[in-house]
Amino acid sequence: MPVMSAVERAFCRSAAWGSFARHVVLPWALERRPLSGDVLELGGGAGAMADGVARRFPDLRLTVTDLDPAMVDAARRRLTLRGVTVQQADVTAMTFEDASFDYVTSYLMLHHVIEWKTALAETRRVLRPGGQLLGYDLTDTPTARWIHRLDRSPHRLLRRDDLADGLAAVGFEEITVSPTLGGQVMRFRATKAIDA
Ligand SMILES: C[S@@+](CC[C@H](N)C(=O)[O-])C[C@H]1O[C@@H](n2cnc3c(N)ncnc32)[C@H](O)[C@@H]1O
Repeated sequence: MPVMSAVERAFCRSAAWGSFARHVVLPWALERRPLSGDVLELGGGAGAMADGVARRFPDLRLTVTDLDPAMVDAARRRLTLRGVTVQQADVTAMTFEDASFDYVTSYLMLHHVIEWKTALAETRRVLRPGGQLLGYDLTDTPTARWIHRLDRSPHRLLRRDDLADGLAAVGFEEITVSPTLGGQVMRFRATKAIDA
């Protein structure tokens, strides 16, 4: 069940994206802060970002998920030797137990999830109290709309305020959604309260 166009799938699997994601995008997305404990990546595609996470933080326990079986296969090929768990999962209906993860990461995937509010609620459910969601996504701009219309993949682009309000609506706290690249991209971080 691919949710991306053939072009996007090829891009996600390319060596060029793998290298750029690992060396440039990942440190920026993490705000150069460490990850630790049990970490879940949503919509990890071919595993480009997870490869960087596993190399930088070899002691954490990383689980990478994606809806598309072809992406799951590609990620498995790239990540199994690094001790990463890769499995198929729909972010809107995950089978993980409540409070299973210290961090949930979402890189450039939320705009493909039509039921994005359900995805945020599911994310909060699987986080431990005090745990954090972090990542980045495209913002709803004319450029992003034009690219996705051309490429015809299912998508639902969000504005910064939509995302911040959606995170608050499902109970996240300490929410930041920061614009980058002239507002084309937004980086976000949100916490599940310790007493949740
Ligand atoms: C643009 S790719 C980004 C891949 C990866 N995060 C990266 O940065 O290289 C978006 C990914 O989200 C996945 N995806 C879309 N909808 C999903 C859903 N409902 N549940 C899980 N994954 C989903 C797609 O299959 C795709 O691999």
